[in-house]
Formats: sequence, C-alpha cells, structure tokens
Amino acid sequence: MAKTKPAISAIGVLTNGGDCPGLNAVIRAVSKTAIMQYGLTVFGIEDGYLGLIQNRMRLLDTADVSNILTQGGTIIGTSNTANPFGFQLTVNGKDSIVDVSDMAIRNLKKRGIDALVCIGGDGSQSIASKLAKKGLRIIGVPKTIDNDLFGTDRTFGFDTAVFIATEAIDRVHTTASSHHRVMIVEVMGRNAGWIALHAGTASGADVILIPEIPYDLKTVCKYILRRSRYGKRFSIVVVSEGARPRGGKQISHYDKNDPNFPMRLGGIGQQLAADISQKTQLECRAIILGHVQRGGTPTPFDRALATRFGYEAVRLLMNGCTGCMVALRGDKISSVSLESVAGKQKTIRSSNHLMAAAKAVGTSFGV
Ligand code: F6P
Repeated sequence: MAKTKPAISAIGVLTNGGDCPGLNAVIRAVSKTAIMQYGLTVFGIEDGYLGLIQNRMRLLDTADVSNILTQGGTIIGTSNTANPFGFQLTVNGKDSIVDVSDMAIRNLKKRGIDALVCIGGDGSQSIASKLAKKGLRIIGVPKTIDNDLFGTDRTFGFDTAVFIATEAIDRVHTTASSHHRVMIVEVMGRNAGWIALHAGTASGADVILIPEIPYDLKTVCKYILRRSRYGKRFSIVVVSEGARPRGGKQISHYDKNDPNFPMRLGGIGQQLAADISQKTQLECRAIILGHVQRGGTPTPFDRALATRFGYEAVRLLMNGCTGCMVALRGDKISSVSLESVAGKQKTIRSSNHLMAAAKAVGTSFGV
C-alpha cells in the first residue's frame, strides 16, 4: 500500500454488491468524518460501480446522512453486476464486454473527486484493487453478512445476520417441538459456513452443515434417529446454502448469458428435507431464511463497527494511504493491502474454536 500525503478536497463513497445491515452507518461515518473533521466535499456514487461507470453521483452533506445510522439498506443504492473492467455494452446492436475503467476514473476526475471509499465484499474489493493499480486513491471497507472476506476477522453485517438467523431458529425450535418434526433451516453464507456455525451454535441446533465439511447423509439421519430413540421427538438442522453432501455438488443457479451475473446458491434445505424424510420416515420441513438476513436495522455491534470502519477509511486516506482495506483484528482496527485480499475467501478452518465447542456439547456436523 502506497503512502504519500495527498491533496484531497473531495471524496466519493460507493456501496457495491449485495446489501447488508450497516451500509448506511458506514456512509454516515465516512461523510461526517470527511466533512466535519477534514472539511472535505463528499459525493455519494449511486448504485455502486454502475453509477461510477454511468457518471451518476450526488453531493452528500451532513443533513443527507443524518438519521441513517440505524437504517437498513443503503441510501445511495447498490449493484452486484457492474464491473468497470468488464462491462456489458451493446455496440452496433451486438453485446460486447468492454473495459470502461478509464472512463469511470475520468468521471470522478471531472467532478474533482480525488479519492474513493469502496464499501463492498470480495468482488468489489478485487475491482477496487485493480482501480488502485490504475492510480486511483482508494480505500476499501469490508462488507458482507457472510463474514468471508479475507484479511479481516469481521465484516460489518455479519453480527446482524447471525442475530436474525438465531432468532428465527429459536422460533422454529418451538414449532418443531410441538409437531415432533425435523426442521431444516437454510441460511446464507456462500462458500463459508460462518452464519450457520454462529447462529446454529447460538440457537442450540442439533445438526450444523457447512460448505467446508461435506456431510454424510447417513450420519445425519443416524444422529436424528438416535435423538428420537432417546425421546427427543424433534430435531433442528441448520444448513448453509453452500453445503453439499460428500461426493455431491452444491445447488447453484447461474446465468450463462451474463458473465457478470453472480452464481446463486440455494435449495439444499429442500433437498435435505426430502432426503432425511425418505431415509428416516420422520416428518420434515424446510425453511429458507434468504434475504431476511440482510434486511433491517443493524445490531449495536455492527453500528459501532461500521462507524469505526468509516472513520478509519477517511483517516487512512488523509494520511496518504491508498490501495488498502480497513480491517478488524481482534478488537483493533487495522488495514491490509487490497491486493492481499483480492480473489481470496476466508472460510472456517477445522481448528475453529467455536466448532470444537459445538461438537463438545453434542452438535453434529454431519460427519
Ligand atoms: O454475499 C451476501 C449474500 O447474501 C450471500 O449470502 C448470498 O449467496 C448472496 O448474497 C445472494 O445474493 P442475491 O442478492 O444476488 O440474491
């Protein structure tokens, strides 16, 4: 990460990728710190990288970012398909993928924007890294409910998603118990099982299935049947959307016609319900929590983390830092180079302490 004291008078801020509780809290912290501490002008770039490419930006003053700390979503919008290094354009009636990154950077320069704060997940930070290599002053802020961003212990939004999922699983618990059913709750997380592990352990799930450990269906069924033999007439299975059976595949949906269309995972809960009910003859129901996990107000932890991240992003920029992402290490805020983060995912290791604790209290991971 480069360090030369820049002359910065205006910055842009954008939110890119799937939304996440705490985005507005970061926008507020970035804008208020920039305006009130450093006397900067702030532009909100609309709909993430899409607005950067299409030159859609608006001034944000303190009134614009007032009263948004607790609000879910993002006041400046987001996009999870636009990529300045591979943008789909129709030229002479033909669809082509074009590198429009120079134009995107020019759009900033034309408005006098000297630096950019990019709030996003791994795809967004990879794009930020490439923009930084082109000379744009840029700082990343790690966002995602999945907590799978490399280089930081935590992303903001994760705590809220875990809270929502835990509350939902608690509710499922009571109805499972009344009807003596096996309830399968599918949570988000892409290729990382962080939400399943944390919410599953917090709600006392009997089985937790994560992408990092392909499960054995027989083991899962044996475990559930053993519970019912001991008089436990219901079971709760928390499954991550990216989980798959041993030797099997993840359930995914992909649009081959759009190279920027992200792969979507989902549906393993339904499949598991069918498989478990067929093998155990027990009544099963599947629930997909889906985007509920991303909506609504952030938890106090996420509000505070988002505020720390936003403040730090501006502080780093003003200290001459560029090409880096703010990060949480333990309880300390630090930073890592965007290059070291790009293209990597943080998944659960077999030595994870929470997983060991969950196993110690009898939770099955399906193996
Ligand atoms: O990365 C966040 C996330 O919510 C994932 O957990 C999930 O797989 C994906 O986004 C869903 O994205 P979309 O908004 O495209 O449905």
